Amino acid sequence: MQSSLPDKIHAALIMDGNGRWAARRGLPRTAGHEAGTHAARRIVAAAPAAGIGTLTLYAFSCDNWARPAAEVSALMALLSHFLLKETEDLAKAGVRASVIGRRDRLPGHVRDAIDWMERRTSEGRALHLRIAIDYSGRQSILAAAHAAAGAALDADAFGRLVAGADVPPVDLLIRAGGEKRLSDFLLWECAYAELSFCDVLWPDFCAAHLEAAVADFRGRERRFGALPSAA
Ligand code: IPE
Ligand code: IPE
Ligand code: MG
Repeated sequence: MQSSLPDKIHAALIMDGNGRWAARRGLPRTAGHEAGTHAARRIVAAAPAAGIGTLTLYAFSCDNWARPAAEVSALMALLSHFLLKETEDLAKAGVRASVIGRRDRLPGHVRDAIDWMERRTSEGRALHLRIAIDYSGRQSILAAAHAAAGAALDADAFGRLVAGADVPPVDLLIRAGGEKRLSDFLLWECAYAELSFCDVLWPDFCAAHLEAAVADFRGRERRFGALPSAA
């Protein structure tokens, strides 16, 4: 039974509410996305001290291609700019950064930025930062089913195909922006995740919100289907 809390947790974050943040200020949605990159930088910096060992950020879903072309290309430009700009600081902070999701549909400049960031930060041990770009939880389960090719794998072995061999299950899933849904994020990995929904729009999300969510998580009792540990 896995009743004890891990020291370093896997936190996953749905960074939602950029468009509404901008609309409230009379700004274009892209201004919200840009402000969202500043929030992402703050949260990555705060994560190790908050007790997070793995941090997965949802930046762009497979379904986000359905947005207007101008918003999609602004997002792609912001993503590659963010990855290139942050890489050096991430490496210095001992962060290993990697990207999950499909690469084949991304513009070349985003793929190049991902390759550089992953290579430059590969030695980091203070935090594993994972950024989900063109990501779909259902698609990653489907890809694992194809890779398993009919082999009778148990849930742990199949989970390694879905999530990656070195990635622990999600302990805490936080969604900013007020919505209470998963939007196709880490469906397998969140099987026993504790859920935390925060009304704060992503560009306003700061270290204090992250710390409050982790503190609340530390107070929860996880049972994984068994009985409370005192029973
Ligand atoms: C999250 O903010 C960023 C992405 C999905 C790329 P949104 O753009 O979804 O902002 P809202 O939810 O419309 O406010
Ligand atoms: C989820 O937000 C995806 C990301 C934050 C990248 P969405 O704004 O796309 O989700 P829905 O459409 O509200 O479910
Ligand atoms: Mg949204």
